[in-house]
Amino acid sequence: MPPTVDSSSQRAVRWYPPSYDIRVETVAIPEIEHPDDAIVKIQLSGLCGSDLHVYRGTGRATEPCIMGHEFVGEVVALGMSFHSSSSGRPHLYSKLRVGDKVVSPFTVSCGECHFCRVGFTCRCVESRLFGTPATPGGQAQYVRVCRAGGTLYSLQDIPDGSSLADSSLLLLCDILPTGVFAAFQALSHAKIQPFTTGQPYPLGSSLSQVGDVSFLPFLEEDQLLTMAVIGLGPVGVCACIALLDMLVSRKSRFNVIAIDPNETRRAKMASIYAIICGNQPSGEFQVADINNGKEVVASLTNGLGCNAVLEVVGNTSALRLAYDLVRPFGCINSVGVHSDHAVPYKGVELYNKNVSLDFGRCPVRAMFPMALELLLKRQDVLGSVGGETSLVEKIVGFDDAAQIYDDFDKGKCGKVLFDPWK
Ligand SMILES: NC(=O)c1ccc[n+]([C@@H]2O[C@H](COP(=O)([O-])OP(=O)(O)OC[C@H]3O[C@@H](n4cnc5c(N)ncnc54)[C@H](O)[C@@H]3O)[C@@H](O)[C@H]2O)c1
Ligand SMILES: [Zn+2]
Ligand SMILES: [Zn+2]
Repeated sequence: MPPTVDSSSQRAVRWYPPSYDIRVETVAIPEIEHPDDAIVKIQLSGLCGSDLHVYRGTGRATEPCIMGHEFVGEVVALGMSFHSSSSGRPHLYSKLRVGDKVVSPFTVSCGECHFCRVGFTCRCVESRLFGTPATPGGQAQYVRVCRAGGTLYSLQDIPDGSSLADSSLLLLCDILPTGVFAAFQALSHAKIQPFTTGQPYPLGSSLSQVGDVSFLPFLEEDQLLTMAVIGLGPVGVCACIALLDMLVSRKSRFNVIAIDPNETRRAKMASIYAIICGNQPSGEFQVADINNGKEVVASLTNGLGCNAVLEVVGNTSALRLAYDLVRPFGCINSVGVHSDHAVPYKGVELYNKNVSLDFGRCPVRAMFPMALELLLKRQDVLGSVGGETSLVEKIVGFDDAAQIYDDFDKGKCGKVLFDPWK
């Protein structure tokens, strides 16, 4: 298959409404449209659970679009904003050159607005999600990146990045930072502090320790942190890896229960756990299906439930399961992408359990340093392709796109990447 039909056209994976219709088509190579744009020649792109919402027709798209929001590649053209005297703007406007290798977070962020400055980069006022009709995605040979000086990472700025395979770097676009985000948010919550500090709420999270605290001392069981991860797709696996890493490095005593109805995905997670934690003396890890998961949580906690539940699926049944599993004064941390359905709890149910709900998109740029550290540390599972414990299962060409979308949708494969030149 020739890589491109002529010098102005490229091959790309396009979705057609209403659902389940993936076509590989010849389309125009994008061009610089704005001085802040970059054109990136893609070396690898990812297929993600978030693509499945569009694929299934449960996203908001109603027009055909080029799919994909995870890509690494090489800069082949830059707009006029990129020049050596571009000061007062994100540093890539003066540093990025044609030929540089880049990794892209899955949303555009300007790097200059309030939300970007404070680290909530996924809510940039100019945010755009790649792989939508308005922002053609990375399952193509070329992509246009808007606000590229704020959005992209140059490999020059990624410490030890050049030691990483492209298939590993690609995990930084979305799924690894998202897993880190879910785990970090849950473990940073004020309601979790009693279990990490050994002090009752709210002292564990307070700097001043004024007043006579007349609580009885904690029993051993009061410091055991029990957490569930719902969904063991690629993002759920990343959330488990991040969570376990944080729990082990903080020397917390923990139970983690990882739940998915898909047996193959449970088996993969169990073998990844064996590699990354083995016999961790301070903690226990179990995989379970949905019914068994409820029983395991109940028996491990004497019916109390989980301190925190990470929801990494993106449907209402998983959100409901999260509520059923969480104990009073617990947290639900949902990174699953949800559609138009209402949250499946009444206000009174949340009130009666003092449940904290945390939802939403990962601010990849903010989580990037933590994700990179984990990526470098866990090359055993995040660095290889196709092994029993490799997160990335295979790399295919676009000719396999329709089949791979179908397989991934049905849970018959795990993380798959596209080589657009294969
Ligand atoms: N918040 C973010 O920034 C962000 C970033 C990336 C992905 N996501 C979202 O994360 C979710 C997971 O992504 P993925 O790539 O792992 O997708 P995936 O579709 O491969 O994985 C979902 C997993 O959930 C399991 N599942 C389905 N229903 C379940 C239930 N009721 N209980 C337990 N498990 C159930 C499936 O068997 C599957 O293994 C998606 O919704 C995706 O859109 C969010
Ligand atoms: Zn993704
Ligand atoms: Zn911004």
